[in-house]
This record gives sequence, C-alpha cells and structure tokens, in this order.
Amino acid sequence: MSNICVIGTGYVGLVTGVCFADLGNSVHCLDINEHRIKNLKNGVMPIYEPGLEEIVERNVAATRLFFTTDYTEALADAEFAFIAVGTPSGVDGEADLTYVRDAAEKIAEVIDHAIVIVNKSTVPVGTGDWVSDIIRKKRGENELEYYVVSNPEFLREGSAIHDFMQPDRVVLGSMHRQAADAVAGLYQPLRAPTLITDLRTAEMIKYASNAFLATRISFINEIANVCDELGADVREVAQGMGLDKRIGHAFLEAGLGWGGSCFPKDVKALAHMAVLHGTHPQLLQAVMEINRNQRRRVVMKLRNLVGGSLIDKTVGILGLSFKPDTDDIRESPALEIIHLLRNEGARVKAYDPQAMENTAKIIPDLELCKNPYEVAQDADGLILATKWNEFKQLDFKRIYSIMHTPVLIDGRNEWDSQSLRELGFTYFGIGQGNHVSAGA
Ligand code: NAD
Ligand code: UGA
Repeated sequence: MSNICVIGTGYVGLVTGVCFADLGNSVHCLDINEHRIKNLKNGVMPIYEPGLEEIVERNVAATRLFFTTDYTEALADAEFAFIAVGTPSGVDGEADLTYVRDAAEKIAEVIDHAIVIVNKSTVPVGTGDWVSDIIRKKRGENELEYYVVSNPEFLREGSAIHDFMQPDRVVLGSMHRQAADAVAGLYQPLRAPTLITDLRTAEMIKYASNAFLATRISFINEIANVCDELGADVREVAQGMGLDKRIGHAFLEAGLGWGGSCFPKDVKALAHMAVLHGTHPQLLQAVMEINRNQRRRVVMKLRNLVGGSLIDKTVGILGLSFKPDTDDIRESPALEIIHLLRNEGARVKAYDPQAMENTAKIIPDLELCKNPYEVAQDADGLILATKWNEFKQLDFKRIYSIMHTPVLIDGRNEWDSQSLRELGFTYFGIGQGNHVSAGA
C-alpha cells in the first residue's frame, strides 16, 4: 500500500486516482475546481466514463479514496504526487504548461518530506527537467529530496478504466532509476510490460504514439477518398491491409477524421516542437490537413446531394461527442461540421445520448432534440457523426417517412447501404466507392 496524491481530477487524474485506490492504495485526488470536488464528495461524477461511478463509490466507502482542494492535506503523507492537469493548445499550437507549472509550484510550497513527482500529463519533451528546475528554484535554500518521473498515459476515453487496469504497456522515464522502479511498483499488480527510459524519451513516446495513431487514421481517410472516386470499398481495403500482421487492424476505420482532447492538440504540439527545433514536420502537417478536409468533404457532399446549396436546408446530426461512450466534445468532428453547415445557411438539429449538456454550453442556440427521430423530422439530410450504439439499428422506414429529403450521410460507415437504398434513401458512406456505384 502506498500513499498517493493525484493532482487534477479530469479524465486522466480521476481514473488514475480511483484505479490506484482500487488496487489498495490510499489516494487523495486534488483539484482546484471546487465545484468538481464538492460534487465528487457527493458521489456526482464530473465526466461520463463507463464504470467510473461504481469504483469511486466502492473506494470512498473503503476509506481509500479522498477528494480535496487543499494541497497541504493532499500531500501530507504522499510518497507519490501524480500531475494529471490539462495541457491545452496555446496560441501557436504549443502545449500550454500553465497548469503544470502551477501544480509544480504548489508541490514545492507545501511538501516537507521526500517525494516522487510523476508527470502523467502529456507534455513537451524537456518538461520533466523544467518541472525539476521550478521546484529547485522555488525551494531555494530549503532543499527538498524529490525525483521527477515521466509516466505518460495511454488510456482512451470511453474505455478508460479498462485501459488503465489492462494497459498494453507502462512507460516510465527518469534520470533516477530507483524512482522509476518505485513507480513501476505501483503498476506491478497490473502485470503489464514496463519500459523504463530517460525522461525525455518517455515524453517523446507519448507524442510519437498519438501522432502515429492519428497518421493511420488520416492515411485511411485519404485512401477512402480515392476509393470513392475509383469505386473501391475502403472497409474491405482496411480489412485486407490489416490481415498483414505488420500492419494490423486497429485505427484503420475511415470516417470524419480524428477529434478529441488529445490527438488534435498533441499532433499540433509535436509539429510545433519540431519546427521550433529546426526540423520540418511535413508528414504531421499533411496528417492535420487531411483531417480538416475530411469534415469539409462531407459538407460538400451533402451540399451536392441536396441540390447545390445548403441555404435554408434542415440538416440533422446524430452524435455530438468526438467518439461514442463519452460526453467529451472537445474538437469533435460533429461540432466542426455543425459550424460549417451553419456558415452555409443551413438549419441544424442534433441529438446525442450524453454530450448535449456540454454542447449547449458552447453552442447555446443549437436546436437539440430528444431522440434521433425528432432530428430526422423534416430534415433534408441526416449525418451520422458519432458511432453510438443506439444509432446502429434505427427504424429507417419511420425515418424515411418523416424526412423532407431522404439523404443519409453515414460518416462512420455504420449503416447497411444496400437496404437503405432499397428503402429509397440517397446514401453516402465514407470511401465506399459511392461515386461509381451509387450514382450520387
Ligand atoms: P481535463 O481537462 O479533463 O482535467 C484536468 C483537471 O485538472 C481539471 O479538473 C482542472 O480543474 C485540474 N487542474 C488544472 N490546474 C490544476 C492545478 N494547478 N491543481 C489541481 N488541479 C488542476 O484533462 P484530461 O483530459 O484529464 O487530461 C489531462 C492530461 O492528460 C493532458 O495533458 C492530456 O493530454 C493527457 N491525457 C489525456 C487523455 C484523455 O483521454 N483525456 C489520455 C491520455 C493523456
Ligand atoms: C487517444 C489514444 O487512443 C489514447 O491512447 C491516448 O491516451 C489518448 O488519445 C490521449 O492521449 O488522450 P481518445 O482520444 O480517447 O484516445 O480516443 P480514440 O479512441 O483514440 O479516438 C480518437 C479519434 O479518432 C476519435 O475521434 C475517433 O472517432 C477517431 N478514430 C479512431 C477514427 O476516426 N478511426 C479509427 O480507426 C479510430
């Protein structure tokens, strides 16, 4: 059993804290957001993440999990302080390290015993050394025994608990082997392959992993667009490629491009780092450009299918979160498509099982519906933007009868094109050879 403090109770911090508590440790989860901590103390989750609430409940009841806004209380007995605060994009695409700096300064201010500081936030290469400097300077003569370890997180939203508890690998980077080994001990019950590197290498592994996954998606989206023009089906192309063990099947689903709180900001931050240090990240630039165009392409397609103009057309959007099983709408393809549609004069209606509250905060005048059928009512086009389960088997006869113009854009290649065309819909999927086979 170890005493752990986790700073930041977002997707990563909260999941890290509750999972370490569930493994038997005593964990203080700390946040500067008082509202969030008050809610957590009352059992109200700040995010939608399957399975999270139950684990929180169990560990609070077992007095292994505590929530606080007070750094002194949270760090009083801590052997490990995990920093899991946000690192959003700055004005030039760089990672904004304000929250990391604040957390490091606070640790330096209140701690009075030896501690391992573990950085879980995704941070530019060199940040571990920078955090170390911040603490040393802040302490001055009042020296502190501390060690900095980089421990990038690879969990995905929507399957965060599973990903944390059954990781493909644990990566630890430090200039102090004993500190890295001590953190490895916390993960030992998970029996995952563990890679220990220096600080900077661990920080780079995180960026390189996210950039590579984003590259795979942009690659398959580019292939999808070529498939459309040439009459091939990207789904089978991906299947055929994936059977090659060197390629594999994961992250080859063509669609509306990657969104979320991480791929967009991390690819941008890596490109920014590269430029700043005199290299020319052409591939990363192309990966981002393909991603932007993927959303525009769908809007262009819909415009063509409804007669060349979207002015006064009603468009329904199914799904607002950047992927299913989360209420996170950060950089969601759906939101960008809504923005593009409204810019062209369309009236947009939308529905999402979990993300409407968050969406209403940033697009207060968006027409939100109670279910997919309300979205389809009188619509000239319906776009499947997020692959939620409940959109998989809709009553399409009903939808056909209530739409004004029966045009379906299947942005996630989820629906059965043949049966929908038989019902009378004009159907457009991504990379399904639509230009040649559908006469669209
Ligand atoms: P988030 O925005 O959901 O949560 C961050 C939390 O940190 C907020 O609750 C905020 O109030 C709190 N915070 C900010 N400054 C603080 C401070 N000084 N002291 C205490 N709390 C503070 O962020 P997230 O999605 O959990 O991401 C955190 C980091 O993990 C980012 O660097 C991100 O790139 C990385 N990451 C995220 C994911 C993911 O799936 N979301 C996965 C892997 C890595
Ligand atoms: C991603 C990574 O998968 C995690 O390993 C990483 O820890 C995390 O970013 C992070 O650093 O925050 P996440 O953003 O939760 O996780 O979601 P993913 O499942 O990776 O999906 C990202 C986006 O790519 C979504 O918009 C999804 O719809 C899209 N996607 C994914 C595709 O378009 N095609 C695919 O084949 C896979």
